[in-house]
Amino acid sequence: MTITPPSIIAIDGPAASGKSTLGLSLAQALGYLFFDTGIMYRAITWLALKLDIDLGAEAKVTALAEQTQIDIEPASKADGRVNDILIAGEDITWETRLPEVEANVSIVSAYRGVRAALSSQQRRIGQRGKVVMVGRDIGTVVLPEADLKIYLDASAEERAKRRYDEIIARSGTADYNEILAKVSERDRIDSTRDVAPLKTADDAVVLDSNQLNADEVFEKVMALCK
Ligand code: CDP
Repeated sequence: MTITPPSIIAIDGPAASGKSTLGLSLAQALGYLFFDTGIMYRAITWLALKLDIDLGAEAKVTALAEQTQIDIEPASKADGRVNDILIAGEDITWETRLPEVEANVSIVSAYRGVRAALSSQQRRIGQRGKVVMVGRDIGTVVLPEADLKIYLDASAEERAKRRYDEIIARSGTADYNEILAKVSERDRIDSTRDVAPLKTADDAVVLDSNQLNADEVFEKVMALCK
């Protein structure tokens, strides 16, 4: 008997819970497409800041999300990136990680029209199958028909520590308390917004990664794929 792994895998959870690390390893192991949907919200936030659009102007930010083509392509450089993120041919991969993007992305992602524009693109890609899609609302809204849903959680302190280590490795300096405050604020906005808030899908498998390292989380989820 051949066992077919789940074709559509949704991974949701709060900021820095290890979703991307897990999603990427799973996609590589299964030969699936890895799609980190947070990139799209980050890309629109970066562009709005660059164009000096008032982030409080919902209609303007929504129009921007509706008109902008975000391209996600295979990594062209071995500098730690998972993909190249392009807008109008410009490589904005690392710009999407800037602190000012991170500080504002939850404002942009709370807008109904922004979510409608981006989640319909995500849904179209996800429905093709053989995909690991990572975000906040994949199992609840974007792909409720997903074959396997994981909700990956960890305490705010543990998540802030992981983000701290990541930033230190990349740039050498970071402030733990500031990161903790920002991660907590983003979680608050993401979980209390009206449209597609961060929450556990009823049929999701909840994994608490406080006591598990990345390999252990991966092994647990791989076991669910068999
Ligand atoms: O990597 P990290 O978990 O810190 O964040 P991310 O997955 O890149 O997502 C950045 C932000 O985009 C989140 O804080 C949410 O506000 C928003 N987002 C969302 O609303 N829905 C998604 N499916 C993915 C991200």
